[in-house]
Order: sequence, then structure tokens, then C-alpha cells
Amino acid sequence: MNENTVLLKASDLKKTYFSSVGEVQVLHGITMEIMTKEIVTIVGASGVGKSTLLNLLGALDKPTSGKIEIEGTDLSTMDDGELSEFRNKTMGFIFQFHHLLPELSAVENVMLPALLRGDSKKSGMNRASELLSDVGLSHRLHHKPSELSGGERQRVAVARSLMNEPKLILADEPAGNLDSANAESLYELMWMLKEEREQTFVIVTHNEELARRADRTIRMEDGLIVE
Ligand SMILES: Nc1ncnc2c1ncn2[C@@H]1O[C@H](COP(=O)(O)OP(=O)(O)OP(=O)(O)O)[C@@H](O)[C@H]1O
Ligand SMILES: [Mg+2]
Repeated sequence: MNENTVLLKASDLKKTYFSSVGEVQVLHGITMEIMTKEIVTIVGASGVGKSTLLNLLGALDKPTSGKIEIEGTDLSTMDDGELSEFRNKTMGFIFQFHHLLPELSAVENVMLPALLRGDSKKSGMNRASELLSDVGLSHRLHHKPSELSGGERQRVAVARSLMNEPKLILADEPAGNLDSANAESLYELMWMLKEEREQTFVIVTHNEELARRADRTIRMEDGLIVE
């Protein structure tokens, strides 16, 4: 098996929000690496900047200063169009609230990232159906989000995050809205994906037990990594 290599490297990331109520410096200089095939959890109290950091790592937002490289590509060298193409190709996202489109069925939601990159509807549909089977939802392909349970919706979100074979999946409190049984089965699914597909995950969580199971845990306090 290949050795793990550096997938993502963040150097001295700082983030300041400028709003009507003034400036808020949220990240004070974050330096970290994510290796391939690892599950890293990010923990810390509410408001320390976990979601802010995850949004920067996923190129959903830009740092005020500092650098993010993914397999050697410096994200700051890309314009907005290049960045969104890179993001769609390289990253998968799972949020606390599923962010599925309500008017689309499960299979249509899952195939969307593939259509965005120009795949045909037929191949997108086939792959989306396979992924939904992989997450245990072959009997729910044509249900809309409102016709699914909370746990099922998050499984659809996991399938969607896998659609474009991302190098990195970023999850922000993916089980924050689930009961403990559904949370447990969501985590089992993620660990299974790591074992079977060598999928790399960064997961923000308040769940200490989950954090302990990860390959590595990053603990944040006041916009800095403390451990
Ligand atoms: N757009 C914004 N403008 C101004 N301040 C913001 C903005 N987004 C976040 N903040 C502030 O930045 C800080 C960090 O927010 P962030 O969402 O990263 O925290 P978090 O660690 O994810 O917290 P939680 O565990 O509650 O999700 C908070 O104090 C928040 O109020
Ligand atoms: Mg958050």
C-alpha cells in the first residue's frame, strides 16, 4: 500500500471578519497539515473558529492572510471561477443541516455535483444510485428530503459528498442534528469509507468519543490550535 502523503497544508492562516459592528479577528495563525487517508477531528468550544477554519480549508471562504496548499496547489493563485471548479472536483462537504435541495429526489440531489462538472445525466444517475446503495438507501432513491428520516438525509448528504470522488471530505457537525443511534451509524459509515476507499475526512465535532476515535484531533481555543 502507498504511504500517506501530505494532502493539505495550511500556513499561518488568519481570518478577520469586517462587519457593521466592527472587526472580529477569529483565526490568529493556524498552521496544520492533513495527510491522505486520515480522519482528523477538530474540537473546541462554541465560537473558537472551527467552522471558519473548515470553510477556509474547503475554499468556501478566503483567509485574510496565510496560505492553503492542496497537493501543492496554492489556492490563492486561483480566481473565483477556477476555485469553484477546483472545489467541486476536489472536495466533498457534509453540513449539520443536510443542505439537500427540497424539490429534488435523493438520487437527483446526489448526482448534482457530477452534472455541475459536465457528466451526462445517465452516468450521473447510475453512479448516484450506486452510492445510495453503498450508504444503505437503495430503497429510497426517489424520495424527497421531506420524505426521509434525519439519519437517511445525512446518508444522502454523505453519498452526495462522494459523487465526484473528492480527495477530501469536510464535515461540520455532521451528526449534530441526529439522535445517538443515527449519529453512531453515520460515524460507522465514515470509518468504513476510510477503510474501504481510503477516504480522507476532516470532521468538526463536539462529540469527544468521536474525537478519540479519529487518527488525530486538533483542539482549538480562541482562534489557535492548542493541541
Ligand atoms: N460573517 C461573520 N461576521 C462576523 N463575525 C463572524 C462571522 N462568522 C462568524 N463570526 C464570528 O466568528 C467566531 C467564530 O465563529 P465559528 O462559526 O467559526 O465558530 P465555531 O467554532 O464553529 O462555533 P460553533 O461550535 O458554535 O459552531 C464567532 O465569534 C462568530 O460570532
Ligand atoms: Mg461551527
